[in-house]
Amino acid sequence: MIKNKKITRNISAGMYVLSTYGAGCMVDTVMQISAGDPVLISVAVNKNNYTNEMIKKNKKFAISILDMDVDANIIKTFGFNSSRDMNKFAEVDTIEVDGIEVIKNCIGYMTCEVVNIIDADTHTLFIGKMVGADKFNYKKQMTYNYYQENKDDILKIELENGKTFYVCTICGYVYKGEELPEDFVCPICFASRELFEKKMK
Ligand SMILES: Cc1cc2nc3c(=O)[nH]c(=O)nc-3n(C[C@H](O)[C@H](O)[C@H](O)COP(=O)(O)O)c2cc1C
Repeated sequence: MIKNKKITRNISAGMYVLSTYGAGCMVDTVMQISAGDPVLISVAVNKNNYTNEMIKKNKKFAISILDMDVDANIIKTFGFNSSRDMNKFAEVDTIEVDGIEVIKNCIGYMTCEVVNIIDADTHTLFIGKMVGADKFNYKKQMTYNYYQENKDDILKIELENGKTFYVCTICGYVYKGEELPEDFVCPICFASRELFEKKMK
């Protein structure tokens, strides 16, 4: 029996921007499969994300590793919008490496060529072979757990005192209002209504 699904927040995970040519999104599901030769990295991407479609097309992706001083705009731009509707790379400082834009103000990046694609129900698991990497700074990495516990402050979401709001426990999207509509699903990550936490400032 699943008594508390939020325990997944305690699986050690970081905060990353996953990018490919023409698309990018926030992810926390990056894992190192092998540090040997080759270095293999995996990332799980929702099938509804445009980034998923574009990685399948480009067969390449980059992972930018975010630090504790990350600009909230990076998380908002890459986590709460779709690349179908906007050019996310025009909103934040990026640099091009191996034909892909990576975040300029971050700990560093890895570029990978896709070597395997695994179907995982709602998600696709992309396995990539590292072909490029660099380190930009030595700041402390932001963990997904830290983000989840401090997202109101990190995202600087403006909320009125005494007003109810609901936070998506999966991605952090905030719905301002007294009641969530009956059939509500998160417009960002498609989490169902039960996965929203009711809060009041
Ligand atoms: C902190 C955070 C972590 C996220 N982690 C993931 C993830 O691991 N996999 C995923 O598919 N989406 C994840 N998302 C949701 C996507 O970033 C989001 O749906 C994005 O808008 C998709 O953009 P796209 O359509 O341009 O690909 C996360 C969002 C946030 C804010």
